[in-house]
Amino acid sequence: MIKFVDPQVGKEEKEALNAVIDSKYLAEGPVARDFEKRFCEFVGSKYTVVTSNGTTALHLALEASGIKPGDEVITTPFTFIASSNSILFNGAIPIFADIDPETYNIDPEKVEEKITKKTKAILPVHIFGNPCDMKALKDIATDHDLLILEDACQSHGSYFDGKHTGTIGEVGCFSFYASKNLPFGEGGAIVTDNEELKDEILCLRNHGRTPKGGYFHTKIGYNYRTTNIHAAIGVEQMKKLPAMLEARKRNAYILLKELSDLDGFAMQKIYDKAQHGWYIAAGRTDKKELPVTKVIEELKANNIGSRQIYNVPSYKQPAYTDINNYYYWSEFIKFPDYSKVSCPVAERVGKDHFQIPINPGVSEEDMQHIVATLRKIFS
Ligand SMILES: Cc1ncc(COP(=O)(O)O)c(C=O)c1O
Repeated sequence: MIKFVDPQVGKEEKEALNAVIDSKYLAEGPVARDFEKRFCEFVGSKYTVVTSNGTTALHLALEASGIKPGDEVITTPFTFIASSNSILFNGAIPIFADIDPETYNIDPEKVEEKITKKTKAILPVHIFGNPCDMKALKDIATDHDLLILEDACQSHGSYFDGKHTGTIGEVGCFSFYASKNLPFGEGGAIVTDNEELKDEILCLRNHGRTPKGGYFHTKIGYNYRTTNIHAAIGVEQMKKLPAMLEARKRNAYILLKELSDLDGFAMQKIYDKAQHGWYIAAGRTDKKELPVTKVIEELKANNIGSRQIYNVPSYKQPAYTDINNYYYWSEFIKFPDYSKVSCPVAERVGKDHFQIPINPGVSEEDMQHIVATLRKIFS
């Protein structure tokens, strides 16, 4: 089976893990600091703070940015649930704006329609590694005095107008979950150029302790730290990242080139100023007689791993449609009746697309097999 997730870990990661064990420094320490320095250099940010995962990175970034209970934050419903859950953790209200039918990213025009007096921030997600239209979103944010908090959890190696995703808004959050372009197993990071914000994040991440350490707590914070064990995998993956991104790009471009004329098949559109990081290559069936379930079945029958992702938009998840009946914040905050929300494009795209393997473990020969199989399925 050609896998759609295949972390490129081996000898180097084993040696790095052994070195951490030999050092007996298991908690977060010098290895994590080394990773942060490398990640700053890679994305071009002043500061990187590692976290236990991407969800905790988002939670911290929102809280440290001053998002308060009752504030509205506009985001996409076509994403992993963590994007909007992190808004809810602060008692803030996720407001869903529909996506663009070709890029699958939040549609700036729809964002503008959702702005109210309570709107404090936009939380764009660069879905599958495809950068959002950050110029349009920044213009809206400037006009309405809103923050941009980027969910870059899927977009390592993605750029808009020459800037790495996550460094365009006030703050950006990354995930290093096992499937990601840069995996730790579990892990995350926040990047920013704002020193004050970085200090607030450091404090909240470590139980509200002052940076000097000791048992002195100025805030109610969390334990969202990582470990040297996870960071050791991260450092080795960081060294391999340029080559891994190149392999993803090579594989994705084989699909773009070889399947551009295939009737009823489409891939995610990329804005002119954007560079896709190719976390996920998403194919779409535009043929009514060829439902996505059939495409996936045929791919699997030909030893090609595939799946649907986000076929249920966040607002349609039972956790959201029932939110005013059970979530503790609902005792203080009235959330929208999410069962009445409608983002027709997100609902349609969620039903029509499927994942195609392009990870660095997939060879050019595998890609030719994938191309030939898709041609057979769609013709
Ligand atoms: C878009 C998006 N946001 C947030 C997250 C949360 O990251 P993590 O799984 O590391 O908590 C993910 C991870 O899958 C993601 O894909």
